[in-house]
Amino acid sequence: MRKADVIIVGGGAIGLMCAWMLARRGVRILVIDSGGPAATHAAAGMLSPSFERSLHGGGDALGEFSRASLSLWREIAPALEEASGVDIDYDESGVLCVALDDLEASVFDADSRYCDRLERNEVLELEPALSSSVRCAWFARTDAQVDPRRVREALKRAIARESGAVKFDSRVVSIETHGARAGRVRLASGESLEAGRIVLATGARIDGLAELPAGAVFPVKGEALAVERIASAPRRVVRTGGAYLCPKSDGRIIIGATELNRDRSLNTDDRRLRELRAAAEIAFPGLEDAAETERWAGLRPATADGAPIIGPAPSAPGLIYALGHYRNGVLLAPASAAAIADLIASGRAGPEIAAFSAARFTELGDS
Ligand code: GLY
Repeated sequence: MRKADVIIVGGGAIGLMCAWMLARRGVRILVIDSGGPAATHAAAGMLSPSFERSLHGGGDALGEFSRASLSLWREIAPALEEASGVDIDYDESGVLCVALDDLEASVFDADSRYCDRLERNEVLELEPALSSSVRCAWFARTDAQVDPRRVREALKRAIARESGAVKFDSRVVSIETHGARAGRVRLASGESLEAGRIVLATGARIDGLAELPAGAVFPVKGEALAVERIASAPRRVVRTGGAYLCPKSDGRIIIGATELNRDRSLNTDDRRLRELRAAAEIAFPGLEDAAETERWAGLRPATADGAPIIGPAPSAPGLIYALGHYRNGVLLAPASAAAIADLIASGRAGPEIAAFSAARFTELGDS
């Protein structure tokens, strides 16, 4: 294998998107992934800045960053499909957030710059299979979705076509950096690899590889299930107070998701998934007849302040973080990767590098 300019540790949406963007700019990349469960595999693939509380809690910078990434997806989706030959199921039919009773309707709000308020009849026109108890909805016309598993497959193929290398089933046990421009990773196999820069994109499993205080990045487990897509199913992504439903063109409807703080296990709980499914069936009663086809859990990589960590490690600038994307790794992959590709390939540090710097955690103690 030829020597890489940049080693990317982590082969989920963020790591692979960084790798593809760098490879397209002529940077020799190597992605190393443990082959363990990636958060991307568990994600539903909503590209929906309008309704993710987690994006709004993170301040204006995160809100703007998520809008910028949604715009990038519009260019990246066709480019990635062209580059890989894989259909990533990019669907621009918007995201609908519904109020199903008077209480929900009374506290129901969204940003009217991006969402239209719809009354009951308009909602039922868009989604005829919705429960007739629906009161009103906000419709984010430009929010979208992809199939994250297909995105990952497409990125792997597109990287290979750019002559980038992806090494799965290799666990990185340590990272050493030497100043701003050189580093070495050691693998569990004993192998040691050098590169000019190392990008850390491991999701919630940072395993002591980051020079970050304990508690800066932690897992928030999410459980989800898929049912078969039947006639009385949602046509687009629909969110309710208790669940979101994402219909995919391969015939699955993904119903998500629970949130379990700092739970690192990947088991699923029958009771919690029953409740999730019940919440989906309150919105779409016809789903009672839909067979479940899959259930799973994944680890969202959360940070102490809800915003990602993007850019150089303050004490070791040869190590670059692409971490902590929490509930929005798939949405934020293009903007995060573009920021990192600019930094590495052109030496240009965009505003997001300052906004999402790891320096904000240097004072953080154990939590
Ligand atoms: N973005 C949806 C979730 O994390 O469940």
